[in-house]
Amino acid sequence: MAITGVDAITYGVSNMKLCRQFLADWGLKRVRSSATSAIYETLDGSQVRIRPRGDKSLPKAFAAGSTVREVVWGVTSKTELSRIRKALERQGVPVTESHGMLRCIDPAGLGIAFRVSKCQKVKIEGTKFNVVGARDRIDQPATFYDRARPVSLGHVVLNVPDLKKAEHFYRGVLGFHLSDRYPGDAVFLRCQPTGEHHNLFLLETPDGMAGLNHVAFEVHDIHEIVGGGMHIARQGWKTAIGPGRHPISSAYFWYVENPCGGLIEYYSDVDYVTAKWKPRDCARTAENFAEWAVNGGIDGNSRRQKV
Ligand SMILES: [Fe+2]
Repeated sequence: MAITGVDAITYGVSNMKLCRQFLADWGLKRVRSSATSAIYETLDGSQVRIRPRGDKSLPKAFAAGSTVREVVWGVTSKTELSRIRKALERQGVPVTESHGMLRCIDPAGLGIAFRVSKCQKVKIEGTKFNVVGARDRIDQPATFYDRARPVSLGHVVLNVPDLKKAEHFYRGVLGFHLSDRYPGDAVFLRCQPTGEHHNLFLLETPDGMAGLNHVAFEVHDIHEIVGGGMHIARQGWKTAIGPGRHPISSAYFWYVENPCGGLIEYYSDVDYVTAKWKPRDCARTAENFAEWAVNGGIDGNSRRQKV
């Protein structure tokens, strides 16, 4: 199945005004905004949409409070949309279709949808570093960021009550590829054999509750993570943990509490893998979550660790 990545995400939220402010501070471009509906975009056109959580047009909530109500996966063509529809129907999954969008409910109770991707490739000249063996930035100081402008919506992390069922649905039915796993506890999945280490991470929680863990946005480099995180801190939003670095996927990260629901993450320098990649069984430990991390973040004004 030619699923390309997360095309859009829709949250149902308690406080539209607060969430609109947050998404603007996060660095997304406002496409449309009113008291009852707002749409924001990354540089590549992936969208974050918010609506009041009582809005009847939203799919049913799979968790209490403000949370994600629908994840829209981009696919390559209409033909692929038909293939997905057939694959879902073969499994007895009820599917609806309107305005070029297929909709269903995943095994955790989350609304998911598929559409021909509206994301566009953005031409970006990669950051030049002066590391040993590759002096790429000559007669030129490095970039310092006042804030972040996320390039793309890279991955979604879901807490699921039944990992086996969720894994079967995303891998067995929709054709996601396994990148790594915490045996029995979690799987890191990517849409295509070649691509970023994960577009979807499914995590079985000890309480067996479904919910949104986090949504992650790719930025240009580690420097934009730090500039973006400090900007978010200056606007009064709360860091959960970061900056830091994940051993699994190798990405740098910074996690912030999101009023739209769950956490939200800036990340960069994630592993990019191909069909040659061998999935690993990893221990679910604090060391495997973060090689290192700053608890509570860096204060945006003092530019020192928050105390
Ligand atoms: Fe993440």
